[in-house]
Amino acid sequence: MSFLIISPKKDPKAWIEALKAEAPDLDLEVYPQVKDPSKVEYVLSWRHPHGIYRDFKNLKVIASMGAGIDHIISDKEIPEHIQITRVVDEQLTKDMSVFVLSLILEHLRNLAQHHSQNEWKPTSYQLPEDTQVGIMGMGVLGVGVAEKLIQNKFNVTGWSRTKKEILGVTTYHGDEQLEEFLRESRVLVNLLPLTSETKNVLQKSLFEALPKGAFVINVARGEHLVEDDLIEVINNGHLAGAALDVFRKEPLPREHPFWKNKKIRVSPHIASITNPVTVVPQILENYERMKEGKELKNVVDREKEY
Ligand code: NAP
Ligand code: GLV
Repeated sequence: MSFLIISPKKDPKAWIEALKAEAPDLDLEVYPQVKDPSKVEYVLSWRHPHGIYRDFKNLKVIASMGAGIDHIISDKEIPEHIQITRVVDEQLTKDMSVFVLSLILEHLRNLAQHHSQNEWKPTSYQLPEDTQVGIMGMGVLGVGVAEKLIQNKFNVTGWSRTKKEILGVTTYHGDEQLEEFLRESRVLVNLLPLTSETKNVLQKSLFEALPKGAFVINVARGEHLVEDDLIEVINNGHLAGAALDVFRKEPLPREHPFWKNKKIRVSPHIASITNPVTVVPQILENYERMKEGKELKNVVDREKEY
């Protein structure tokens, strides 16, 4: 039985080191160097070439290297019996919440403007206690971000698929409560998983439902956003701007208009990056569980797509 890493677009060196440190005897292979595909039962995967899982006849588990699994389930050829797991990690949640807080503070305090204008020109600013932040997706990361914002005195609302009760957060759920949730969101943070239901969710009518001057943060997936709609509502003055960490095409092409738009902040998918050292124990625990026929942790519901 072998443990395979498939990560053709991202150097897996840190994963290999962390796995070897925790489990020196692990029979570890790295795609595309696979001696016998029929021996592979467990794969640690990030953006695999679609279609390749057909060749692994005895595969049981695909573990995502990250919280998102859209890069796995977008491959429609993965047999139904294969379990997919994702990362749930305290460090990942902390990193995401600090990142979102930083973006919001940078926006409220007009820091980018001050840093770029080279002029002694103080501006007025909005306080956290006067700012309502709406979080789309109240899962592991959404709740972590909400807690961090509440600690910093923001008014926080959250929107999810099912009803939630979260201390200090006004919650909304389902399509029928979306508009009410958007209406007062001065800052909108997207932390939804990418599914057939949430694809293109950040589009014109949603932006128009936000109050004038709202600021949008997308730290989930590029395919959530209809890019031209965002540019339109920023250029017509309805939105104050946006901070984007994820894109339909990554790396964001040099010629992309987002780079030149002064009201759009671009970051290179760095909101929260999985730390192999903190995550390898849960990956290995699931590997052992699989071998013993036990229930796995952090399994994704393939029907819900997250
Ligand atoms: P999660 O725990 O699975 O939470 C997902 C949340 O979204 C849940 O609250 C869920 O509602 C809600 N949701 C799903 N479909 C919905 C729909 N159709 N309408 C309304 N709400 C819906 O996911 P997570 O761990 O917080 O991660 C969220 C995403 O963040 C990941 O999928 C990934 O794409 C992204 N991410 C980005 C980075 C980065 O560096 N930029 C890093 C890590 C993760 P219920 O609670 O009702 O089920
Ligand atoms: C990063 O984007 C993740 O899904 O963990």
